[in-house]
Amino acid sequence: MTHEHSRRAVLGGVAGAGAVAGLTALAPSAVADEQPFQGRQARPFEGKIVQITGATSGIGEATAKAFAAAGAKVAFCGRRRNLGREVERAIRESGGEATYTHADVRDPRSVQRFVDGAVRRYGGLDIAFNNAGIQYSARLHETTLEQWDDLMDTNARGVFLAMKYQIPHLIDAGGGQVIVNSSVGAVVGRPELSLYQASKQAVQALVQSAALEYGGHGIRVNAILPGITDTPMIRPPELDDATWEQAKVALGQLNVDGLKTVATPDQIAQAVLAMAAPGFGYLTGVSLPVDGGVAAGRRMLLPER
Ligand SMILES: NC(=O)c1ccc[n+]([C@@H]2O[C@H](COP(=O)([O-])OP(=O)(O)OC[C@H]3O[C@@H](n4cnc5c(N)ncnc54)[C@H](OP(=O)(O)O)[C@@H]3O)[C@@H](O)[C@H]2O)c1
Repeated sequence: MTHEHSRRAVLGGVAGAGAVAGLTALAPSAVADEQPFQGRQARPFEGKIVQITGATSGIGEATAKAFAAAGAKVAFCGRRRNLGREVERAIRESGGEATYTHADVRDPRSVQRFVDGAVRRYGGLDIAFNNAGIQYSARLHETTLEQWDDLMDTNARGVFLAMKYQIPHLIDAGGGQVIVNSSVGAVVGRPELSLYQASKQAVQALVQSAALEYGGHGIRVNAILPGITDTPMIRPPELDDATWEQAKVALGQLNVDGLKTVATPDQIAQAVLAMAAPGFGYLTGVSLPVDGGVAAGRRMLLPER
């Protein structure tokens, strides 16, 4: 239900066969300069302790794998146990360190268990990536109260709860970082996504104020604002791989003003690692669009005053 609603909004009919076929011809070649983030060393996060909410799929999974490959110990959560264990196994099989914990970010006790348990297991916390989220698509007046509550409880309250339990550990450690996965939806409107955009603007506000509140403790708090990213959140399950590849081209062409392509989860993961890197030690309170140009395009459309 959740995924179904979200996909409808993003695809918005553009994935129809005709539209897809016409636009495929316009596909630009892939962005060429993609290298995993390394900073100045091969494993810039060696020994760092990372927590990620919602890493059973999509951006969270890619970020867990990228942090582990860069030397971090990664504790992550999500509700789907089979996927959580699979991600944990994949990371360990490639020589990384990760631990999956079943947790639901809507539930305070569950979040506290995840956060405190991960701190006990790895002996601290350096970087938190609060990523878990869902999307519903519906016109505002047709949205149910249950949908509003579920989305806000996951996307906004879930981030609040994670920060509430993580920050004391970061204060005790004398500093650290929180990165929240917001969305470019926090800064642009889109029909049938009013709840989602509202939830993402809420977490941006949390980030800005928390950055001021905890800067004196050496804690940096930032948000990343991904654009449309190829994850289960937006992929219609009924599409086969070939059709989905074509649909993504159409999505990029129609909805991304700059690079004209949707993002891969790895591209967003690498941006998270870059934000978390020691070289960005003066970056705090920022909401960084990593969106192929969506936000820039919308800004240019604002009427002149
Ligand atoms: N894909 C995009 O175009 C896009 C663009 C901008 C921002 N984002 C944001 O990126 C984040 C990750 O989404 P995604 O695109 O990677 O989609 P995804 O593959 O559906 O990942 C969502 C993750 O959040 C977890 N999650 C959802 N509800 C949860 C809950 N109550 N408790 C714990 N974990 C929960 C899911 O795990 P379980 O289902 O196993 O619990 C899953 O691991 C979200 O915050 C989303 O809003 C996505």
